[in-house]
Amino acid sequence: MSIIEFKNVSHNGILHNITGHFSEGRITTFVGPSGAGKTTCLKHINGLLSPDSGDIFFRGENIAGMDMIELRKRIGMAFQSAPMIGGTVYDNLNLPKAIFGEALDEKRAVELLDRVDLGGIPLDKNIKSLSGGEKSRISIARTLVNQPEVLLLDEITASLDYRMVKEVERLILRLQREYNVTVIWITHDLDQARRVSDDMWFLRNGELIEFGDASFIDHSDNPLIKKFVEGEEL
Ligand SMILES: Nc1ncnc2c1ncn2[C@@H]1O[C@H](COP(=O)(O)OP(=O)(O)O)[C@@H](O)[C@H]1O
Ligand SMILES: [Mg+2]
Repeated sequence: MSIIEFKNVSHNGILHNITGHFSEGRITTFVGPSGAGKTTCLKHINGLLSPDSGDIFFRGENIAGMDMIELRKRIGMAFQSAPMIGGTVYDNLNLPKAIFGEALDEKRAVELLDRVDLGGIPLDKNIKSLSGGEKSRISIARTLVNQPEVLLLDEITASLDYRMVKEVERLILRLQREYNVTVIWITHDLDQARRVSDDMWFLRNGELIEFGDASFIDHSDNPLIKKFVEGEEL
């Protein structure tokens, strides 16, 4: 069952006539060379950018006509740099509520920390004193605040050491199972993509070259995909 659908989406010479879909309750990774348009695609899904032509549908509804506040509650996003605001752990968890003029229940904040295996960390702890891995988990917890149906992840493990990378992968896989959330995950690490994917989208120069069950990445006859897998320049 498709939850998000792109129909002939083009954007500013960056995305070219993209048509494809994402399946509900699955993890789709976005792979392809740097500059392929992966981040640009992701920003279209939660309405940070809109297409010049073409349409994007969320559960069959064109997102162009949807209320953006509502859309961003239903579609959570986490970036590589895990941007933290100054202040406490609570302040950071509360951010998705604060931007809508609401406040996160403290009990719920503690539950969320527990969800990402940070149960022992006090809510009033200064965010600056956390490690990179802890901050990354806070940023994942933060995306769960509004109980989204879709999680968009952009290179969230790029700055972590290998052990933390694996921990974050396990965490996302577990959360995906527990909440049955649909995950769309950009990664430049093909091995990570192989580990976590159900499905894949392969982009290059703003074109969607292939998508579907992730096994295509190692079995495609497409010379571009073969070259990418071999680590050659495209
Ligand atoms: N704000 C912007 N203004 C103009 N061009 C941009 C902007 N952001 C990205 N681009 C260009 O769009 C292309 C795709 O970028 P991006 O979506 O970030 O690719 P990826 O995430 O696959 O590395 C790149 O050529 C990049 O230079
Ligand atoms: Mg990017």
